[in-house]
Amino acid sequence: MKILMVASEAVPFSKTGGLADVVGALPQAVHALGHEVGVVLPLYRMTRLDGAATVFPGLTVPLGAETCFPAVRALVQHGVKFYFVEYPAFFDRPALYATPESDYPDNAERFALFSRAAIEIAQLDFHPDIFHCHDWQSALVPALLHSVYAKSPARAPVLFTIHNLGYQGLFGREMLGHVGLPEHLFHIDGLEFYGKVNLLKAGLVYSDAINTVSRGYAREIQTEEYGFGLDGLLRHRSLVLSGILNGVDYSQWDPATDKFLAANYSPEDLTGKQKCKLDLLKVFGLPEARADRPLVGIVSRLTVQKGADLIAEAAGELMAGDLTIVVLGAGDAIYEELFRKLAAQYPEKVAVRIAYDNAVAHKIEAGADIFLMPSRYEPCGLNQIYSLKYGTVPVVRSTGGLDDTVQPFDGEGGQGTGFKFGSYSGKAMMEAIRAALALYRKPKLWSKLMLNGMRQDYSWGASAAHYIQLYEGLVTARGR
Ligand code: ADP
Ligand code: GLC
Repeated sequence: MKILMVASEAVPFSKTGGLADVVGALPQAVHALGHEVGVVLPLYRMTRLDGAATVFPGLTVPLGAETCFPAVRALVQHGVKFYFVEYPAFFDRPALYATPESDYPDNAERFALFSRAAIEIAQLDFHPDIFHCHDWQSALVPALLHSVYAKSPARAPVLFTIHNLGYQGLFGREMLGHVGLPEHLFHIDGLEFYGKVNLLKAGLVYSDAINTVSRGYAREIQTEEYGFGLDGLLRHRSLVLSGILNGVDYSQWDPATDKFLAANYSPEDLTGKQKCKLDLLKVFGLPEARADRPLVGIVSRLTVQKGADLIAEAAGELMAGDLTIVVLGAGDAIYEELFRKLAAQYPEKVAVRIAYDNAVAHKIEAGADIFLMPSRYEPCGLNQIYSLKYGTVPVVRSTGGLDDTVQPFDGEGGQGTGFKFGSYSGKAMMEAIRAALALYRKPKLWSKLMLNGMRQDYSWGASAAHYIQLYEGLVTARGR
């Protein structure tokens, strides 16, 4: 089979979050199972290309009243062909989607051009049996195949993956004209959403099948609480909606081989982990003497999704505990400020780095004892899966993929991998943290818990096989 993925970010070319980890690793895993995979990405300012060939010096892409001529470059990496849509006016910017203050105002045009270019690439070069689109930035692919490109030979079935229902790509109705989408798509069973154009909704309506990145989240998004206004539609499409848990790329995230660490370690020999802890304290300017206390790590986009308000709510109680906290994150100004304040108030206990820094993210996974992820919702979550591998015990809210990947430790029975809490409250979070801190004082049980996590296997193989089953089902159905 030939699969063409379309996404707005992928490691190692561009990244703001877990989507990039997934689109960086899944294609390789699908390729390893015997399929041909292409990936279409925008060429951003942050994208570094070595040895890419120019496939098209200028595609002809109509965009409303204008015609644009994006170039396309490509390279093959680990057997996967990556295409880059080069259109500097749209993508040569400091960030992928937004300034620190707000979204780029022309995001509709940017990702419409990108989606059309992806279909052109399919038509002129890759000839896929199936498209696999990720999140709202690529959601115009199925809408265009359904309308403007209905007669195109590239009209293959589409699988649409929801990585995060909280980001929908909402725009005013006038965008239809700006990007050349027919007005007749603007109705309640199409891409209209309370008087606006909702690109994610277009993806959900016009794709042949939908999945999200854990089974738990696939259930949750069909409820009002987690559905972001699209739960009715998702219930309506439940027969073609499934959950496939993300894998993780252990070639990047394994303490035995991780090149960012002060020392490597494995379940057979954990001694390096203490060195990583000392190194982490140093990186955050905290005294070495704190090494005998439990060290809690956070790596997160600082947005409403990730539960920082619970930390604010419970700050007093949290700081009364005998622990140290290191935070790496960037995002919304209010949450950045919140952590800065905590660090200023409790300088000996809390250290914060407001930044995006991959090396430090790895150092936290390795050097911390506990990893805190109190998310309000979490489609899959990768950091807690990395934490398991690094023997860093996750404390998570039981939602979405967090609930699916962390099993509560049952104490004397010795089973389980972490700690969970249910209700979205500072009190519930503190109970889970207190349970973790109490167990930390029982070294034998704590080691058991760490090793349980380290021995879990969340590599991509099984998930990639699920995707292939889905692709095959759609291709066969289309052929009938
Ligand atoms: P999400 O995609 O919702 O942000 P995930 O847990 O799926 O959450 O993935 C987050 C990814 O982004 C992980 O690879 C994590 O290490 C990385 N990450 C998040 N924030 C930062 C940061 N401030 N610096 C470096 N890496 C980060
Ligand atoms: C999203 C989700 C996260 C998930 C990632 C990759 O950004 O917030 O939970 O792990 O996508 O699928």
